Amino acid sequence: MKEKIIVTGGCGYIGSHTVIELIENNFEVVILDDLSNSNEKTIDRINKITGITPKFLKVDLKDSLKTDEAFKAHKDASAVIHFAAHKAVGESVQQPLKYYKNNFYSLLNALEAQSENGINNFIFSSSATVYGTPNVLPITEENETQRPFSPYGNTKKIAEEILDDYTKSNKEFSAISLRYFNPIGAHESGEIGELPSGIPNNLMPYITQTAAGIREKLMVYGNDYPTKDGTPIRDYIHVVDLAKAHVIAVKRLLKKEQEKSLEFFNLGTGVGYSVLDVINTFESVTNSKLNYEIVGRRDGDVPQLYASTNLAKEKLGWSTNKALDDMISSSWVWEQNLRNENN
Ligand code: UD1
Repeated sequence: MKEKIIVTGGCGYIGSHTVIELIENNFEVVILDDLSNSNEKTIDRINKITGITPKFLKVDLKDSLKTDEAFKAHKDASAVIHFAAHKAVGESVQQPLKYYKNNFYSLLNALEAQSENGINNFIFSSSATVYGTPNVLPITEENETQRPFSPYGNTKKIAEEILDDYTKSNKEFSAISLRYFNPIGAHESGEIGELPSGIPNNLMPYITQTAAGIREKLMVYGNDYPTKDGTPIRDYIHVVDLAKAHVIAVKRLLKKEQEKSLEFFNLGTGVGYSVLDVINTFESVTNSKLNYEIVGRRDGDVPQLYASTNLAKEKLGWSTNKALDDMISSSWVWEQNLRNENN
């Protein structure tokens, strides 16, 4: 018998890559997604890659009755991986209530439905944004969290606090919060990848869309930071490496290997690259010139953010395999496939 995992937001960018890794590790997957920022075609693409079609229920997790119904139908599931959330930083600043409502209603309804239906293992999709502007680098999980700049980031920080309270109150329940650094890249098949709606906020999709001629030029937000070339440094991680960590975290919960009822792990490579490093690598990998211009700083950007990966290595036995050029070339293949499909 395969163990069943409920994946909320399983049609999204990180969710869909995780579904593939779960299937390849012999789990049965049920996806709950409202398709608000994703596409049902992803299910067919998952089938194309794995030969298996995961079960899919179109559910808006803000609706507590529908959420409970969906969980009830799959109460034999062993764990939930909760990706479903809004994630656009800029939009969250413009529309904070939309973000607080969506991200918290969904989280709370999922937790309630889960405990109603006796499913006691939970993986939460968190972000390095919970560290705010760190004083010490690389960032370990011991670093204090700080109020993030954006409402989006704040939903991640508060969600971790909710999980902390909840795991203390419900002794049956265990959770792992995975703090992502900067996920980029796409599946090697070229079948799935990031689908930014509208103008991308993040660096990588902005670069690939500029190279594809959809955006005129990339704005580089500031070159006066205290870094080697003046542009901010981030820890970019391949989405497939990231997805694999979710499978390991699920197995840890199922085998009851966790040391605390709520654990936190950084998911990054431990290596920081500047914006200009990313641009230069893109140019050399694709053998092209990118049109970009240095402009003023973007509100809320911190100079440097990169992970200490020791805890994930030691406790999860997880480390990353894929280098920056691999991340960038897979993003580029995906972008070109998207364009060919749309033409
Ligand atoms: C952002 C969010 C973070 C979220 C993560 C993944 C903030 C402060 N943080 O991280 O909460 O978890 O995305 O979605 O927004 N850059 C440019 N030009 C661009 C876009 C980006 O120069 O058009 C630069 C940025 O200034 C930054 C770097 O590229 O230095 C990475 O930016 P981005 O991809 O948006 O990620 P973060 O800001 O690190």
